Amino acid sequence: MSQTWWRGAAIYQVYLRSFADGNGDGVGDLAGLRARLPYLKDLGIDAVWLNPWYPSPMADGGYDVADYRDIEPVFGTLGEAERFIAEVHELDIKVIIDVVPNHSSTESAWFQEALANPAARERFWFSDEPVNDWQSIFGGSAWTQVPGGQWYLHLFAPEQPDFNWASPEVHREFEDVLRFWFERGVDGFRIDSAALLYKSDTGYEDLDEVHDVYRRWREVADEYGERVLIGEVWLPDQERFARYLRPDELHTAFNFDFLSCPWDPADLRRVIDLTLATHTPIGAPPTWVLSNHDVTRPVTRYGRADTTFEHGGRLHGAPSDPELGHRRARAAALLSMALPGSVYVYQGDELGLPEVENLPDELRQDPMYARSGGANPGRDGCRVPLPWSGDEPPYGFGTGAPWLPQPESWRKLTAEAQRTDLGSMLNLYRTALAIRRDRLGDGTMTWLPLGENVLAFTRESGLTCVTNLGPGPVPMPAGEVVLASGPLEDGALPSDTTVWLSAG
Ligand code: GLC
Repeated sequence: MSQTWWRGAAIYQVYLRSFADGNGDGVGDLAGLRARLPYLKDLGIDAVWLNPWYPSPMADGGYDVADYRDIEPVFGTLGEAERFIAEVHELDIKVIIDVVPNHSSTESAWFQEALANPAARERFWFSDEPVNDWQSIFGGSAWTQVPGGQWYLHLFAPEQPDFNWASPEVHREFEDVLRFWFERGVDGFRIDSAALLYKSDTGYEDLDEVHDVYRRWREVADEYGERVLIGEVWLPDQERFARYLRPDELHTAFNFDFLSCPWDPADLRRVIDLTLATHTPIGAPPTWVLSNHDVTRPVTRYGRADTTFEHGGRLHGAPSDPELGHRRARAAALLSMALPGSVYVYQGDELGLPEVENLPDELRQDPMYARSGGANPGRDGCRVPLPWSGDEPPYGFGTGAPWLPQPESWRKLTAEAQRTDLGSMLNLYRTALAIRRDRLGDGTMTWLPLGENVLAFTRESGLTCVTNLGPGPVPMPAGEVVLASGPLEDGALPSDTTVWLSAG
């Protein structure tokens, strides 16, 4: 793999709790993941990104980290994590882990110390009263009172106290945490809530000081050779976004404009152009992301009459046409994999899993659900454990009852059922990733003018990608069909279909 592997990598997101359960307790773990590594190798990805695997009370699916230098016992042990890293590397796959620098867990040693000793509170945001009226991103006040009377700030759940990045100790701590894992071989970090670390009287998003943190982190990463820092940076302003990708800061950042873009040719073209215009001048590769553990699965979102991004669960439960959603998700997958840069695949999207929208309310675990008083269903519906094999739950996920129930209809969507079906979503992903490895990834693209409903572009390798977002079939440009997301009609490209063509 090249020195700058991350510029064009296909990165598979593993939501560990829901990937595969090795010990029968109903929760995914490292043993389950290690046993399924051949599946990931066969799928053809270059790297895995794991959501937080640290000891955690799981108030927010592990994004409430109690100890940054160990592994959650439900997931395994530090020794197992080290063996996992070695095994993945033997398969020539890179490992990216999540680091959560904006907040901790109320169970962390530092927060416990702060609770016990009011003189040891400078690592967090404590004050005698809430100093502003900020709301938690999960709903409710962002301030919670502790015994003794003081209040602390939490932008997310009350179990996630925000660090005070004005404290030099916090800086030292995170540089040391990065080193801890770099020394154990991880190839990079996905930085959670990367733009939120600093707070001021006026706000908390994207304060200039945050860039000093990432300049320093880049120095640390560079000491270890080719390691990568990836920002979770949701910002409306492209100029501000690009600052995180300056040559001495983060390597890449998630493209949330693409993820949240409706299934519409004009919108998609605008987002692709904007993405290229943002990244090209600074030499940073774009990323193409269709989903993750925080958003509605594409099959469900694209099957709705309204495909706008439903921030806050606004469209939860709105009717979705499964056939339409499936067709568009296939077309979107080929589009995202053909664009220049790196691409992310969220576990289960390669199986075409839909959002599970009918989970029993009492089983919902996402704090968004409870903190919104049930108004927001939360993100559990995209976190349901994967179906691997067999005809009934738990579909080979493990031996125990999965922590969230899997729908009956998933019998047709297991990895086993799809492996032998050449037309399956799984085989589309496998084939596309194999072609992508040789002919796509990092580089540039040139638009082809094929009408306003058609997104068509050529890559350096001579491969052309054409997506038809219009209502009826359109003529295809000349070339040999390399791969198509759906059936073609006598030289025409049907609606909601992507084709990859070779110049010959
Ligand atoms: C990020 C994560 C999300 C988490 C939040 C707080 O947005 O992706 O899952 O709830 O940060 O850590």
